[in-house]
Amino acid sequence: MTQDTKTYRVALIGCGRKGHGHARGYAGNPRTEIVAAADSDADNLKLFLEHFPVPGYADYRQLLAREEIDIAAPILPVQPNPQVVIACAGAGVKAIYCEKPMAASLTESDAMVQACESRGIAFASGDAYRNMPQHWKVKALMDSGDLGELCSINLYQSTNEISGGGCQGLSVLRLFAADADVEWVTGWCLGDPFSDDDQCMGGHIRFANGVDAFIHTKRSPLEGIEVVCSKGVYHSTWNSGRLWRGEPHKKLVEEEGFFAEFGDPADWINPSGTRQRSGIQSIVEALDRGSEPRCSGDNMNKVLEIAIGLRQSHRENHTPVRFPIRDRSQKIIPARSRFLNKKETLGEQRYREQLKSAAEKPLGGAAVKTAKRFLGLA
Ligand SMILES: NC(=O)c1ccc[n+]([C@@H]2O[C@H](COP(=O)([O-])OP(=O)(O)OC[C@H]3O[C@@H](n4cnc5c(N)ncnc54)[C@H](O)[C@@H]3O)[C@@H](O)[C@H]2O)c1
Repeated sequence: MTQDTKTYRVALIGCGRKGHGHARGYAGNPRTEIVAAADSDADNLKLFLEHFPVPGYADYRQLLAREEIDIAAPILPVQPNPQVVIACAGAGVKAIYCEKPMAASLTESDAMVQACESRGIAFASGDAYRNMPQHWKVKALMDSGDLGELCSINLYQSTNEISGGGCQGLSVLRLFAADADVEWVTGWCLGDPFSDDDQCMGGHIRFANGVDAFIHTKRSPLEGIEVVCSKGVYHSTWNSGRLWRGEPHKKLVEEEGFFAEFGDPADWINPSGTRQRSGIQSIVEALDRGSEPRCSGDNMNKVLEIAIGLRQSHRENHTPVRFPIRDRSQKIIPARSRFLNKKETLGEQRYREQLKSAAEKPLGGAAVKTAKRFLGLA
């Protein structure tokens, strides 16, 4: 069996709301199969095994000791995530695809990246906008020179969490900035800059390749990302994409049909849409080809560093913060509902209803057809 036909064995660790979505993604990809699951909550594990009948473990360490796993998928609250990712890396898996944000502190996220990098493990984080193939099509067009020079990137944040939800937009911003190193950032917080709690932040990023990116905090119809080039402009609200071509001082003309191959935009960021399918396909390709996953752990580590830099700038009277940030103990504590088990933060009854609904969303009908088309199987 060649690497390109091998079916990769997946272990789901954390069978909560988002875990069901990831599990459906793996079940829907012809190159992956779920072979084991672990959850410290017996009820959550039981419900998961009703949908995915595989060996179940109360302790993920037992799973790692007993099962032969290619891809570990820890879909966990942020607090336990670093420890579990590092344990998976030590257990000899070939790839790890966890959720986001991957950690609260830079010390933790550095250690996660290092644990994977030092062993050659492909590491991805987040069912992320950055996985959406629409952005990569535009990036390829930019790389071909067709859109001229990159002038600036505007990110219109529509979230009160720079780390929890905001890491999505920052990851796409880094993609269009060619994942260059950051030279310095200036920034501000909408709340208390001396709080470690996640909050809305804005600012300016100067990348080492000369690219300037601006993070806006006021909500406007321009929600999403806008990439301004000398011969064109790309704008996406995440579930829409528009591309205009033009020349300086001339009228911009929209290119119709540029995103037609990606189907209904309403499907793009769905839990079983192009974003999710592309994330799972990206970890398969990372294993097949040794490529970096589209939304890697390294990317999410650098995104957390940008967010911490924006806040540090505010703490230091909005002066520029040079990268890399020296004090790696700095952290952003995500909202309780991300940091801890949702059962704890929502209450038993509300959680049970939400988990049931997450578990019962079938990958059927139109979703299956689009998935097959996306994977080139129909
Ligand atoms: N990318 C996205 O769009 C998106 C959307 C929703 C949630 N998320 C992220 O997904 C993660 C999980 O969210 P959720 O809604 O599924 O939460 P959840 O509380 O429903 O699920 C977490 C599960 O992990 C289990 N768990 C916790 N610690 C464990 C441990 N040490 N070992 C084994 N199991 C453990 C819990 O029992 C629970 O079943 C969070 O980090 C959240 O930020 C991302």
